[in-house]
Amino acid sequence: MVKLACSTALFWALPTNIRPLIRIAYLSQRRAYSQSKCSTRKQLTIAGVDYPTDSWTNVPRAILSNYGRKLHISQHHPLAITRQLIESRFVGFKNHNNLPGVVTVDQNFDSLGFAPDHPGRSKTDTYYVNESTLLRTHTTAHERDIFRDNQSDGWTLAADVYRRDAVDRSHYPIFHQMEGALTWHRPNFSSRDACLDAIKDSLRKLPKHDLAVEDPNPPFHPDHNPLQEKYHSPEEAEAVGAHLKRSLEDVVVTIFTEADKALASAGQASSTEQEPLKVRWVEAFFPHTSPSWELEVWWRGDWLEVLGCGVIDQPLLIRANQPDRIGWAFGIGLERIAMLLFGIPDIRLFWSKDERFLRQFRAADPYKRFQPFSKHPAAPRDVAFWLPASAQGPVVADTPASNSSAPSPAGGQRTETVKAGVEPVFHENDLMEVVRMIAGDAVEDVKLIDDFTHPKNQRRSLCYRVEYRSLERTLTAEEVNAMHEQVCSELVGRFNVEIR
Ligand code: PHE
Repeated sequence: MVKLACSTALFWALPTNIRPLIRIAYLSQRRAYSQSKCSTRKQLTIAGVDYPTDSWTNVPRAILSNYGRKLHISQHHPLAITRQLIESRFVGFKNHNNLPGVVTVDQNFDSLGFAPDHPGRSKTDTYYVNESTLLRTHTTAHERDIFRDNQSDGWTLAADVYRRDAVDRSHYPIFHQMEGALTWHRPNFSSRDACLDAIKDSLRKLPKHDLAVEDPNPPFHPDHNPLQEKYHSPEEAEAVGAHLKRSLEDVVVTIFTEADKALASAGQASSTEQEPLKVRWVEAFFPHTSPSWELEVWWRGDWLEVLGCGVIDQPLLIRANQPDRIGWAFGIGLERIAMLLFGIPDIRLFWSKDERFLRQFRAADPYKRFQPFSKHPAAPRDVAFWLPASAQGPVVADTPASNSSAPSPAGGQRTETVKAGVEPVFHENDLMEVVRMIAGDAVEDVKLIDDFTHPKNQRRSLCYRVEYRSLERTLTAEEVNAMHEQVCSELVGRFNVEIR
């Protein structure tokens, strides 16, 4: 078993110029985390506002240090350029881009019809400020309020969102989403049929494209993608769905045309990338839309999920005091789009303050391929441990099953989750959090490489590979060893596991 004392000795053996780096990151995180665990921190201050803490509090300090950076509205930032490109396809929509990320559980879940035991609510998936307040997990958290304010028929909303998640090159606990919605107010028309005609008319006027679209499913399906028959006629749902799909296909054509141009001008277009663009619609489920879909794009030889969308759940509009509106909504993850638009290979780069990154993007000449400025060596270290022998309850350790190219549509990885309120024996997201707490942005990837149950005593052992790599400099072996020792001892201390 690794002891903390041993790691401390190792720490003091490190060169003096390295110690502060590890110590600051580690000690402050450790304090924040352990305090939040025991909820001795009486309050948490976020953007100048004090929030009482309780047994739900689990927001680490590293997250808060990036809170409020507003990358999506920073001039010349690739996420801001991506946001503007999408906004440009929704002419006349009001753009909301400055909504604070601390929201209530009511906004993030209840107002959207999330079931009380929905896994998204669990502490393993979500950063709670306290029992009733959290860091929004999606931009949908603002839908009800924006519908209620009723400032425009069409709107978009871009913002930072927060999820406890896997560690790899396309997942970061903070990322950005863009939400969009369009509704029609039936009383504005002489009859319900006139409203339906207006939707169809608007659909006819949307830009045409010659994109290959696979859409094998019916407009709705009683079992797996139901019409809201209490509120919508089949024709209405079909027209709204068609309008939604065409609008989003237009966005995808715009994005990928720019990505292709950037590739061609960088002389990087290969035969796979020159394949004609194709997309497909896949049935989906969201508590706040029905029917619902995801849009996937064929990109570099793989189907890539880019967004989730659907016909807005009418009870949600009723809760927003808009019972007479009907319409669609979508949510799209901005990092994923920006990564392929600019060829950005690692999601951590978006947070870089390094001029070598930032100066490559200019709003006036926006879609240029990113030129990597350095690649420092990776330092892999494994950690294998036995799960506690006596503990009963769920174990979530499924990275290989949910591979990182299958995240949820608007960003974030779909891990196997436990129902809210169920306390897991071990949850992979907690391990990810420990690694981030200690290594910060010096970790690139964490994955399960072995899962073994002893045939005799039935004890289960897991082995994770932690890939340390800094984007800014080469890590020394001592530094990596010290971080890894800390990871091991934290795992022992927190989850009662036994290092093998
Ligand atoms: N909220 C969904 C997510 O985070 C995305 C979405 C938004 C889906 C709006 C449908 C409508 O994955």
